[in-house]
Amino acid sequence: MSVNFKDLGLVNTREMFKRAINGGWAVPAFNFNNLEQLQAIIKASSELKSPVILQVSKGARNYANQTLLRYMAEGAVQYAKEIGCEHPEIVLHLDHGDSFELCKSCVDMGFSSVMIDGSALPYDENVALTRKVVDYAHQYDVTVEGELGVLAGVEDEVSSDVCHYTKPEEVIDFTSKTGVDSLAISIGTSHGAYKFKPEQCTKDPQTGRLVPPPLAFDVLDAIMEKLPGFPIVLHGSSSVPQEYVDIINQYGGKLPDAVGIPEEQLRKASKSAVCKINIDSDSRLAFTAAVRKVFAEKPAEFDPRKYCGPARDLMEKMYREKITDVLGSDNKLAQL
Ligand code: G3H
Ligand code: 13P
Ligand code: ZN
Repeated sequence: MSVNFKDLGLVNTREMFKRAINGGWAVPAFNFNNLEQLQAIIKASSELKSPVILQVSKGARNYANQTLLRYMAEGAVQYAKEIGCEHPEIVLHLDHGDSFELCKSCVDMGFSSVMIDGSALPYDENVALTRKVVDYAHQYDVTVEGELGVLAGVEDEVSSDVCHYTKPEEVIDFTSKTGVDSLAISIGTSHGAYKFKPEQCTKDPQTGRLVPPPLAFDVLDAIMEKLPGFPIVLHGSSSVPQEYVDIINQYGGKLPDAVGIPEEQLRKASKSAVCKINIDSDSRLAFTAAVRKVFAEKPAEFDPRKYCGPARDLMEKMYREKITDVLGSDNKLAQL
């Protein structure tokens, strides 16, 4: 039986993207796979009165079950209200959808937004697949994100060795032929905790830390010139906070040379037509750092709440910092 997202108290991305572009901020798109991530995301975004996009990847669906995740998102709307956010704006979004059938099944089960990622396909096939998803999703007012250009990086379900920047000369044709509501682009970000090879970076002489090369803001500018006011999405935007990497390494982990996107660059992007910024790895790092610390300091502990609780607290702190200090999405609900 099909259900529409509006009956679940969810919203699509259309209005929040317009406000984000006009206001010079970006909506956080946080991936979730489990209860603790969801609690932390909703607590941070509701208390800070930020719109939020809950992202479900193929990996998350395999891990947690797509039906369960959908009901958790419905529960999240009620939880947001219970903790004092009267008019939450929560989007349930399919991250990196790879087929029409998957996107359709998410639309039918109450997702309010889907991504169809045809970026690895030949251009014409990407256009045709994306158009098919848009035609279906728009019948139910579900918004659609498409992608042009390929991000480097390896994760469970998303992988490519090389990065191909989005070609600005293709964006008008792609958006007009497909009818997408937003466009994910490639300007040098990548998925995971190893966004750049050490040889691509310089070294900060004071801290010895790797300093990554800047994002290709010239490509972003050229895209914005072709598509004035069109919603742009940045994937692979974790900053890989070195404090979490250090905790993980201190307590028995092994994450050498993990490096992310510097926050100043994400602040700059948020002020432009980039209105959705995807963050997953930073949540994984915060969770792992907190759990490793408890395991090392309290080896006798065996109640999962005693290590998942601190993990949840650290993720909430991280989500709050993203919202207030990086994306500027706090106090941006239509009805505060
Ligand atoms: O873009 C990819 C997301 O970080 C999700 O990754 O497929 O491992 O859940 P995942
Ligand atoms: P990160 O790996 O940088 O968190 O990117 C997540 C992402 O793009 C999800 O689609
Ligand atoms: Zn992504």
